[in-house]
Amino acid sequence: LIHPVILCGGAGTRLWPLSRKSYPKQFTQILGDESLFQASARRLSAPMFAPPTVITGADFRFIVIEQLASIEIAPGAVLIEPTGRNTAPAICAAALKLQQNMDDAVMLVAPSDHVIPEDSEFRDAVAAALPAAAEGRLITFGIRPDRAETGYGWLELGQSIEGIDVPMALKRFIEKPEADLAQSMLDGGQHLWNAGIFLFSANAILKAFERFAPDILEGARAAVAGAQSDLGFTRFDPKPWNDLPDISIDYAVMEKADNLSVMPYRGAWSDLGGWEAVWREAGPDAQGVVTHGPAHALDCENSLLRAESEKQQLVGIGLKDIVAVAMPDAVLIAHKSCAQDVKLAVTTLKAQG
Ligand code: GDD
Ligand code: MG
Repeated sequence: LIHPVILCGGAGTRLWPLSRKSYPKQFTQILGDESLFQASARRLSAPMFAPPTVITGADFRFIVIEQLASIEIAPGAVLIEPTGRNTAPAICAAALKLQQNMDDAVMLVAPSDHVIPEDSEFRDAVAAALPAAAEGRLITFGIRPDRAETGYGWLELGQSIEGIDVPMALKRFIEKPEADLAQSMLDGGQHLWNAGIFLFSANAILKAFERFAPDILEGARAAVAGAQSDLGFTRFDPKPWNDLPDISIDYAVMEKADNLSVMPYRGAWSDLGGWEAVWREAGPDAQGVVTHGPAHALDCENSLLRAESEKQQLVGIGLKDIVAVAMPDAVLIAHKSCAQDVKLAVTTLKAQG
């Protein structure tokens, strides 16, 4: 059995005002009537998987339980981080917990902000990568790039990306490159995107932490050793936890490790990182317009108009390249090309209290 570990502690600030500090994007219904978190949990509930381990922040623990219950999935464990320390500490602690119960556990680390429509195709790719993971390789899933995306990790194969369908040793992992490097990697045809989904044994990833981030391993060990169980949650010891560095697995381990392999994934995949991605995934009409909820576009082009409350109509007239999102208590209007800067707006609002 493969042990899914679902990461759902991120803040998702680039999807403000739909995504909120107390209710981040992975739990909201962005597309369709399931949350991204629920879709991830469902994708990983199949005979090849053990019940999922979910790791999240203290504020979200009841949302996790409620959303899993409503799709009738019982979690294997819900691990609580006293504060968000990004994905490296979360993954390290989840690996330590799994290793406590089972010495040779293989874990599938899955983010909860992805759209992957073809569940069975995805599971086939995981099954194909399992033998290499069981042998101690760190497997990442690779997506064929179609733009010079700077918000993703890139995987260097050292050969053409054509026709590869087995796990292949990776030359280099480049997290969130500068724009010109991303463009040259796209043009070169030897790189895939990192899907952010990882398959490895708990032993292999802990060995990698020991080598490249021993401080994280040590802190996570102390936080797991001092963990408290309450109401079925496992809450890591806040003191050592809060001293852990805030760093992603990509920077802490993946960019440094020399035992990475990539398993190409050919199905559809998208990280709903910002409003532009939501617009793209929602399927724009011939004018490039997407509306959602009680929103109406008259003579608009290349725009997203989204109203979240039935009580509030949103009307756009003659708009071009605009993202407009209306929530009962907040409205965002942005040029589509600046949609990533919503993150800055959130920082500014926070600073103003
Ligand atoms: N439990 C927990 N704790 N989860 C977290 C935390 C945390 O502190 N921080 C982030 N997460 C969760 C997010 O909710 C998301 O599901 C996942 O971990 C990945 O975090 P993101 O912040 O969305 O990462 P990213 O999108 O910038 O980059 C990663 O994903 C890309 C593809 O989607 C990297 O792995 C890139 O290399 C990759 O291309
Ligand atoms: Mg993401």
